[in-house]
Amino acid sequence: MKILILNSSPRRNGNISKMLEAMKQEIECCNAEAVYVRVPELKVRPCIGCMKCRCSLRCCLPEDDAQRVLQSIRDADALIIGAPCYWGNMPGELKVLFDRMVYGMMGENSLGMPLALHKGKKVIIVSTCTTPYPFNILYNQTRGVVKALKEILKWSGFKVVKAIEKGGTRKHPDLTSKEISHCKRAVHKLL
Ligand SMILES: Cc1cc2nc3c(=O)[nH]c(=O)nc-3n(C[C@H](O)[C@H](O)[C@H](O)COP(=O)(O)O)c2cc1C
Repeated sequence: MKILILNSSPRRNGNISKMLEAMKQEIECCNAEAVYVRVPELKVRPCIGCMKCRCSLRCCLPEDDAQRVLQSIRDADALIIGAPCYWGNMPGELKVLFDRMVYGMMGENSLGMPLALHKGKKVIIVSTCTTPYPFNILYNQTRGVVKALKEILKWSGFKVVKAIEKGGTRKHPDLTSKEISHCKRAVHKLL
């Protein structure tokens, strides 16, 4: 079992990073393989919108980390995506990465309807924000991130088995042991 972890927080010691680290440890404790990618450190050119990939099934831009991450998604049995809330949505680098991988996430049938290319794979979403609970949910802060990611993942065939949302990170910048064990328990939904 191989699980790809995409961390789109630039803060190596931030909440998302700590939550994903706990999940990585749990994966390894269960004798599964964790592949860890720090999205802000990737070199990914933004999509130029040419739409050629929809027919050629490859990106016409010179190879960069987008093609490499897509291969890692293809090779993985499951995904964990960590995304802090930036303006009620995922960080730009993560969106740019997904824009570059459309052709490897979903195809199109003859009527132009989407065909999911990762049917049956499971995914966990982890999101954080400063807006305190329950307003992180009610005002679509971490919930905005979860909704935006679900849109991409749904059309790609992934099943979201868990969304972990932590609000109020300014007042509560450290993870509690309860939060860490919550993250670790969630991993078992993927195994
Ligand atoms: C550019 C930027 C935009 C942000 N936008 C929001 C926002 O819309 N709502 C919110 O509650 N917090 C927002 N935040 C705060 C982060 O979501 C918060 O600091 C989060 O805990 C960061 O997670 P990390 O420590 O895991 O990196 C923003 C932070 C940055 C840097």
